[in-house]
Amino acid sequence: MTDPRPHGPAAPDPEDERSAPPGAWSGRFAEPISERVARFQASVGFDRRLAEADIDGSLAHARMLAAAGVLSREDLAAIERGMGEIRADIRAGRFAWSLADEDVHLNIEKRLTALVGDAGKRLHTGRSRNDQVATDLRLWLRSEIDAMAARLRALRSALAGLAQRNADTVMPGFTHLQVAQPVTFGHHLLAYEAMFARDSERLADCRRRVNRLPLGSEALAGTSYPIDRARVARELGFDALCGNSLDAVSDRDFAIEFAAFASLAMVHLSRFAEELVLWSNPRFGFVAIADRYCTGSSIMPQKKNPDVPELVRGKAGRVVGHLTGLLVLMKAQPLAYNKDNQEDKEPLFDTVDTLADCLELVADLVANGLAPVPARMREAAREGFATATDLADYLVRKGLPFRDAHEAVARAVREAEARGVDLGELPVADLARFSPLVGADVVDVLTLEGSVASRNHPGGTAPSRVREAAAAALARIEAEAAAR
Ligand code: ARG
Repeated sequence: MTDPRPHGPAAPDPEDERSAPPGAWSGRFAEPISERVARFQASVGFDRRLAEADIDGSLAHARMLAAAGVLSREDLAAIERGMGEIRADIRAGRFAWSLADEDVHLNIEKRLTALVGDAGKRLHTGRSRNDQVATDLRLWLRSEIDAMAARLRALRSALAGLAQRNADTVMPGFTHLQVAQPVTFGHHLLAYEAMFARDSERLADCRRRVNRLPLGSEALAGTSYPIDRARVARELGFDALCGNSLDAVSDRDFAIEFAAFASLAMVHLSRFAEELVLWSNPRFGFVAIADRYCTGSSIMPQKKNPDVPELVRGKAGRVVGHLTGLLVLMKAQPLAYNKDNQEDKEPLFDTVDTLADCLELVADLVANGLAPVPARMREAAREGFATATDLADYLVRKGLPFRDAHEAVARAVREAEARGVDLGELPVADLARFSPLVGADVVDVLTLEGSVASRNHPGGTAPSRVREAAAAALARIEAEAAAR
């Protein structure tokens, strides 16, 4: 026999599986769903990850129902007791998940009823799995967002710290991957801090829309029970209510927004990873990556492969794929809830896991596993005539129109290239052949240090500015952490 569920979700332990479940809606049906359909539609294999959020949401709902007089005090006490036991069992890994009970919600509700009887059956009053799952997912994502924000801050502070220590380390800056102008390594690292700082802003903005309460929308139209949604929102720490019940049960914008944030963060990580791959290549030799982030080759004894950056680069594709998947999942879905939405979880879970892994690994690599090699950086800057623009600017300061200065320096570069030397190594008298404006003071602008020091304005690469910018970044990160 072939495997009956080649593409099915990860199944719970086989001993927990029952054949054809009656389902929560069984009275309506003349026959149970088939084993094959049960496996196809069950989500408990992955959505059990929402269990704690599901319990929190249920408890807030039950307390509100009791306060409204819909549920008795005794029933509430029974529900609280049962949920406490279920939570402990889940944490201890001894909860018996059942595929027959479809999803995390029905598994927990069924167990609650087994533990406390009719009180368990009353919990679902004024609620539907549609507003329940939307609430669970938002609660879960909110706590993941807070953990992700901390990881982003850790990466940013690793980058800013390394930048601070390398405010004077000169390297070639590139455009078109050709040596362009000298920059400092610190400045280069702070460019990445700036990207991840924007990611932090986007994440905080995304959190505002995640943190709204769908519960109370019931299946789609709201409920006739005298519910107090504001009370539930308060207890669960939501900032606001979802304003329209139809939208509340079907909206997955918040998941898409998170995936968009994560995709962009992964794209930033992939850019940094790509530079690490290049820089650690002996042809560049700008940095050494600690051995524990690299592997060897099974056949070529000399190889040291930058696996971690390569994988980070690769995993960006997978997260962007999840964003695309979620967008297409929602495209053209009619109102309100559709079972399609069960497909939101796996991409969202994997997005969170992948980004978390990558942020943690890269932060650790930057903080503890990356050694710059300043001598190699200098050499590359010199070989690339990185101070050519400085020479042109020098001539402009002496009165030459910029276009003429550009041309004069271009000819000087050609001469230096032919002689196999850097511009700064051409004797002043030879440089003066390209423009009579060249004087003895030209040597100052042709040094790498002179070049970076002259770019002394906010956002510039001068070491003093880089130190300032790194300190400001570290202060911002600390303030963000304190504001949580
Ligand atoms: N497991 C479902 C999901 O993830 C829960 C909601 C089911 N609602 C329903 N009407 N069948 O979306």
